[in-house]
Amino acid sequence: WVTPMLVPPAMPRAGRAVLRGGQNADVYDVAVRQVSQQVLPPPLPATTLWAYGPAAASGPRAATVFHAPSATIEARVGRPVRVTWRNELRSDTGAFLPHLLPVDPTLHWANPPGGVDGRDGRPTFSTTPPPYDGPVPVVTHVHGAAGVGDESDGYPEAWYLPDASDLPADHARVGTWYDFFRARAQALHGVEWAPGSATFQYPNDHRAATLWYHDHTLGMTRLNVYAGPAGFYLVRGGPEGDDAVLDSRTGAPAVLPGPAPRENDGFPSSKPYREIPIAIQDRTFLADGSLFYPDTRAFFDGTVGPYVPDGDVAPIWNPEFFGSTIMVNGATWPYLDVERRRYRLRLLNGCNSRFLVLDLSAVPGAELWQIGSEGGLLPAPVDLSGTQRGRLLLAPAERADVVLDLTATPEGSYVIRNLGPDEPFGGGEPDGDFDAADPATTGRVLQLRVGPARSPDLTTPPRFLRMPAVAPVVPSAVRRLALVEEMSTAPELAEDPPPVAALLGTVDGTGRWTTRAWADAVTENPAVGAAETWEIHNATADAHPIHVHETFFQVVDREPVVVDEEAATVTPAGGARPPEPNESGWKDTVVAYPGEVTRVRMRFGRAGQYVWHCHVVEHEDNEMMRPYRIGPEQP
Ligand code: C2O
Ligand code: CU
Repeated sequence: WVTPMLVPPAMPRAGRAVLRGGQNADVYDVAVRQVSQQVLPPPLPATTLWAYGPAAASGPRAATVFHAPSATIEARVGRPVRVTWRNELRSDTGAFLPHLLPVDPTLHWANPPGGVDGRDGRPTFSTTPPPYDGPVPVVTHVHGAAGVGDESDGYPEAWYLPDASDLPADHARVGTWYDFFRARAQALHGVEWAPGSATFQYPNDHRAATLWYHDHTLGMTRLNVYAGPAGFYLVRGGPEGDDAVLDSRTGAPAVLPGPAPRENDGFPSSKPYREIPIAIQDRTFLADGSLFYPDTRAFFDGTVGPYVPDGDVAPIWNPEFFGSTIMVNGATWPYLDVERRRYRLRLLNGCNSRFLVLDLSAVPGAELWQIGSEGGLLPAPVDLSGTQRGRLLLAPAERADVVLDLTATPEGSYVIRNLGPDEPFGGGEPDGDFDAADPATTGRVLQLRVGPARSPDLTTPPRFLRMPAVAPVVPSAVRRLALVEEMSTAPELAEDPPPVAALLGTVDGTGRWTTRAWADAVTENPAVGAAETWEIHNATADAHPIHVHETFFQVVDREPVVVDEEAATVTPAGGARPPEPNESGWKDTVVAYPGEVTRVRMRFGRAGQYVWHCHVVEHEDNEMMRPYRIGPEQP
């Protein structure tokens, strides 16, 4: 608890534009660059990482605004945002920067020079392929942005390399999908993508919501996001935003805790914000301050390695990654000075694989109320202190908009803990069903230093918040899907076959599943305007956070299933349970527990090619992602 927790400021706008159709839009110009950041407490060394920031910033100013996590994009309902996302991963001398972390060239990703595809051609791995040392592809996705054209969604194969117009032509490669979407963006919006960048447009015509943006490059998302590029994207206003929340005692507008950071506040900022975005991420560091990510399967499987001669398990691939420290807004184990009053926290689990179980039981007198989920305000505030003993489960990519009420907390220093395990999560209770995180390291998140309130707290106590209703989606079709674990079939490993990959699949009318690879034809193809229930049958041993792009969904229920591995079938067993109270609003990521079918319902509004996937990013990078298409195939 050495470093004060930094609060990300708002991203400076680059200007305004009038779009085709006459709407005014906010314009941003955002680059991803390599920077040095004091993540560990001094005098430990600084960490080289990647961060988004305003492309116009240079020199000493850039050092204060390029930060991981990055500045928050502040958007308004009904006012589109246009962002030029630049790949500036080149050194001062113009050389392409190599990846900070070991790339696994056995994963399929777009056109790796010398890469081997680990699945589609089904090779065996008798040798470790040569390491990839080329330029770094990037593509940004605004996670949760709904109603976005597919040209702007950050399709995983629409990655691009840094601008190389000054270099030989063979260095200027971009993905095929990049060219495809560039042409579409030109036709739809009249924007030209400059080399080394993409210009995306977000309509923001859904509810006020807590979104975030991060890299989404095929087969490299886990590395790119781990290296730093991520930030919040908050959408405010509209008929279902904060202004629609009433105080149930008076019927007058409620007062929520604020202010939130504004444009140009810069890093670090010492203003007394009371609405604070908090990104929680686990990371491992080497003694020189650099980020560690494993480059051998032996890290996952103990001392075994190289994995199996001629086996089907890639020697580099790690099915999950759990860091040894907890980083909060870009610093390990920071403290936050607070007063005895109410705070609004926008919490994000930005870990690669770790499910967080935040625990406030060591903060005396604190009340924790959840008021929103990924897609905006809940229909009613949920008292997590009462119903869930101050615990909040956040799977990777999930967000919670919470009010932390410290008005009854005595002055002193207290720790927000994490019980979420240092291994895959299966649900249940800590130390009954899973081993809670190490209390000395990954079990600690953030220290609150509670001092006296310096002015009266005029905010509405969370129990009196009356929120706008959430109208149910009425689906007209059901789609049956499966999460399946594929085990090694190598004879040497027959005794205890290790996992090769977790996969997605479809389930037919008899309950039989068929796994589908990324490269297989689209099977999920809802019509424009259709509303569907997706039944996600989890036949694996672990929970998976499932994210669908382009829409928000409602959780319907969860029901146990009988899994027959031999027959490859799943059969619902009855006894469905309703969603948790904090799952009663709009979501874009849902926990699918092992041995259950999780049902969600959603509407698909805009034609195009998008993806759905597991947000354990190691899984996503290795085939636990599928393209899906809304409406007919477009030219
Ligand atoms: Cu947070 Cu498809 O991503
Ligand atoms: Cu998964």
